[in-house]
Amino acid sequence: MCGIVALIGSREAAPQLLEGLRQLEYRGYDSAGIATVDGAGMHCLRAEGKLVNLTQRFEAQGAPGQCGIGHTRWATHGKPEERNAHPHLDGSGTVAVVQNGIIENHRLLREELQASGVVFRSDTDTEVIPHLLGRELERLQAGVLSPDGRRPGGALLLRAVQAVLPRLQGAYALAVVWAEAPGALVVARKAAPLLIGLGEGEFLCASDTPALAGFTRTILPMEDGEVALLTPLGIELYDQGGERVERSPSLLSGTEHVADKRSFRHFMLKEIHEQPETAALWVARHLPDAPAGTAAGPLVALPLDGAVLEGVERIDVLACGTSRHAAQVGAYLLEQLAGLPTRVFYASEFRYSPPPLGPHTLTIGVTQSGETADTLAALAMEQERRQLVADPAYAPRLLGITNRPESSLGRMVDQVLDIGAGIEVGVAATKTFLGQLLAFYGLALALAERRLGLQAGGGTITRERLLALTAGLRAVPQQLRELIAEHDRQAEALAHRFESTQDVIFLGRGINFPIALEGALKLKEISYIHAEGYPAGEMKHGPIALLDAKVPVVSIAVPGAVFDKVLSNAQEAKARDAQLIGVAPACGDTELFDVLLAVPEVDELLSPLLTVIPMQLLSYHIAAHRGLDVDQPRNLAKSVTVE
Ligand code: G6P
Repeated sequence: MCGIVALIGSREAAPQLLEGLRQLEYRGYDSAGIATVDGAGMHCLRAEGKLVNLTQRFEAQGAPGQCGIGHTRWATHGKPEERNAHPHLDGSGTVAVVQNGIIENHRLLREELQASGVVFRSDTDTEVIPHLLGRELERLQAGVLSPDGRRPGGALLLRAVQAVLPRLQGAYALAVVWAEAPGALVVARKAAPLLIGLGEGEFLCASDTPALAGFTRTILPMEDGEVALLTPLGIELYDQGGERVERSPSLLSGTEHVADKRSFRHFMLKEIHEQPETAALWVARHLPDAPAGTAAGPLVALPLDGAVLEGVERIDVLACGTSRHAAQVGAYLLEQLAGLPTRVFYASEFRYSPPPLGPHTLTIGVTQSGETADTLAALAMEQERRQLVADPAYAPRLLGITNRPESSLGRMVDQVLDIGAGIEVGVAATKTFLGQLLAFYGLALALAERRLGLQAGGGTITRERLLALTAGLRAVPQQLRELIAEHDRQAEALAHRFESTQDVIFLGRGINFPIALEGALKLKEISYIHAEGYPAGEMKHGPIALLDAKVPVVSIAVPGAVFDKVLSNAQEAKARDAQLIGVAPACGDTELFDVLLAVPEVDELLSPLLTVIPMQLLSYHIAAHRGLDVDQPRNLAKSVTVE
């Protein structure tokens, strides 16, 4: 977790470091800090809470130097207090380190250092690193002088980092500065993201592209185990074995929508409103132009090498949080439409209780950020165990669905479906969820088309059925436009009713059950109201005991296989005095709802693309009405890079 930045060049580093941290604040905002170095030594500023506190401190005290590092924290080891904020320093105060990740053997290292007299000032796992470096630099410094009598600072710092890294277990991205070498910066990564941005006579390193987007478009993503020494003159890149590596930089793409709220009050609201555009782009890219019903070519244009889908007999999906809900909708589509048995796993559970291996299995990792540690670790484990099987039927086939094809996920899997939603800043995922859903529609249609005539959960797969669905998908961007305009107003007007609400139940069935889960998650994440998503038919087996007039029930009821059943379940809630909010088409059947958040009547299989909108807007307006920090809810972070 957390975000790190580091800059070296020929201008004052601190303003750019703060700007980089601003772009990374979605990765954590428990505290922030920077350290710069110049001829006078180390200048370290840290502040608890959001970045604005650090910025105020910088404005009052300054932090001179053309080289520096910065950090925005999501607390793992140690409370979110200033003393646990990064950068952390060694005992002499000359070595400063920022780190994103977890040093798993920190306790052992701490004990060893304490035994040799080192005094720790924080509870973090990171603090062992500056102390180890300080000790190593002392050892290396003894007697090492360059011909002009000066110490070769940068080279020495690099050697110290290279000597210390093998002692660190876990996943990390880190940046180090040393007061004795103000013209050098060392960065390293292992299983946590780090990119180097190449400017003119300056380099900016960061955990993620938003921090680089306003600085440069030329980037060098670091690979696992690599260490780099940066000076204003250039980059020296080394692999894990200490061998020099030469690699060409690449160009950053998709950063046009960089953090700008436009006229919206919050990023989340802006991102909800961007969904018609996300859908329109997807339609333009993936549904070929020929009019429905006349095309003989493929129904869906997926930028995938067909081999990854060839002969697939079953699908496993690994994901966390909102991405997992998109995967659950996807599983429904893959089973009902393409007839492929599909299982969805919590990535964090899969890794430690993997199911028996099956042949001809496609494993899909879904993560909007492409950096979620649980998802990456589960995928890596699956890849490794499949590689050990001699039978080619069990060979790994990995597909990623992500908004960040350049991410760690993108580098790990064989093929990627890029959801192309543009940068999402709000911690609560909205447009990336829609993008993930659309990716699954594309995948399910492509697989169904390969399996025409076979049986799927929803009956025989026919081209007519698939054509009808693609026609339905083309209408989605316009439907979203109208729906968002209408529900934005309606949800805002409704929000005051939730002022004293403590619990909300979300009900859905079939393909809309994951949307009920997503509705509950959104509400929990940003409004801190306890919410549960339940399959509507299960309500009578437990949650019904919670119901009374104070507990609103949001029920998703769309015409299709389970319409009547869901309406009956809603009646059961109404009989217990619950306030009933329906997400359903306006018709005679839906008059039982106290409040109707109307959605157009579409093919049930397409309905999640629309029913999710009132969920997002209701959560947003309830949280905004309560005056909460919608874009940066407490305790959360957008990209969870620790397991
Ligand atoms: C965090 C966020 C969630 C998100 C989850 C998975 O927990 O707070 O909103 O759904 O990570 O993120 P990913 O990047 O893998 O989709």
